Amino acid sequence: MGGTPRQWGEELVPDQSGRTAVITGAGSGLGLETARALAFRGARVVFAVRDVDKAAAAVSRLRASSPAATPVLVRLDLADQASVREAAKELNDRFPAIDLLINNAGVMWTERSRTADGFELQFATNHLGHFALTGLLLDALRARPGARVVTIGSYLHKLGRMRFDDLNSERGYGRYRAYNRSKLANLMFALELQRRLAASGADTLSLAAHPGLAATGLGRNIPGAVRTLTRPLAPLFLQPARLGMLAGLRAATDPGARGGEFYGPLGLTETKGPVGPARPGRSARDPRAWERLWAESERMTGVAYDF
Ligand SMILES: NC(=O)c1ccc[n+]([C@@H]2O[C@H](COP(=O)([O-])OP(=O)(O)OC[C@H]3O[C@@H](n4cnc5c(N)ncnc54)[C@H](OP(=O)(O)O)[C@@H]3O)[C@@H](O)[C@H]2O)c1
Repeated sequence: MGGTPRQWGEELVPDQSGRTAVITGAGSGLGLETARALAFRGARVVFAVRDVDKAAAAVSRLRASSPAATPVLVRLDLADQASVREAAKELNDRFPAIDLLINNAGVMWTERSRTADGFELQFATNHLGHFALTGLLLDALRARPGARVVTIGSYLHKLGRMRFDDLNSERGYGRYRAYNRSKLANLMFALELQRRLAASGADTLSLAAHPGLAATGLGRNIPGAVRTLTRPLAPLFLQPARLGMLAGLRAATDPGARGGEFYGPLGLTETKGPVGPARPGRSARDPRAWERLWAESERMTGVAYDF
């Protein structure tokens, strides 16, 4: 025994046959890579996406490469609470037991914008949509022993500040600030969910993960000047999506992973490198703030969790 520990990779994902995994935003980027890896191991992957026509091609490719996987498409617009409720109803009707929910979808650095519900777009999509979806799927998750909820955050959560008096950025909008806050909310939500699940005696686990920096479509709103300035450095920090998704995949499938853990790349800058448990930033480590965010999220979405 002993020697160098093996670096975690997708070949270590245990058999997923008979398991149902719901992935938000599975039609592209990290979500699609995660879907591919889980389907390859035999999971039935549910693509919860806002544009089912766009995702249909990805689903067909997956069917062709992993014939046993039987992927399914469900329409979900996380920026619209009515759509979240409809998607949750469809998911509960079709899949009364869910093994894995990966809260992956996200938008970054969007122009100031309000959703139909009146919420700031990044906070609504990245946090509130996932908060409501998870609450509405809780019974289906609890129907499977050891089911997991994995919420994808970002190392940028470390720059986030939770302005409880202005979660909707009504007093001033900054695209970077709003993204950082939404990613801080992702992590605080995952940690508080784990605390509440454990307190209720459920064996459902909540974990978080972040991909480091991965080449996906997420950067579509990066302002031109920032893009030009950072382009020469990008190859030093960026990794392909198939590696960026590994932290989330490990949180989702590693039998040794524990509720409340936060996985990410452990290289020098935490943008790439082997994946393992990372340390949440200081602003994500205050349980009173988790509780406060939870109460605000219940109030804003109208979804009250039933533990
Ligand atoms: N890439 C990185 O370096 C990086 C770093 C830190 C964190 N992350 C996080 O990783 C996650 C995945 O991002 P990615 O890099 O894979 O970016 P991506 O390629 O842009 O994928 C994001 C996915 O989210 C979906 N989405 C956006 N708004 C949605 C909505 N209202 N309802 C449902 N789905 C919606 C998108 O669907 P459409 O195709 O319809 O737009 C897309 O499939 C995000 O949570 C992001 O914050 C990524």
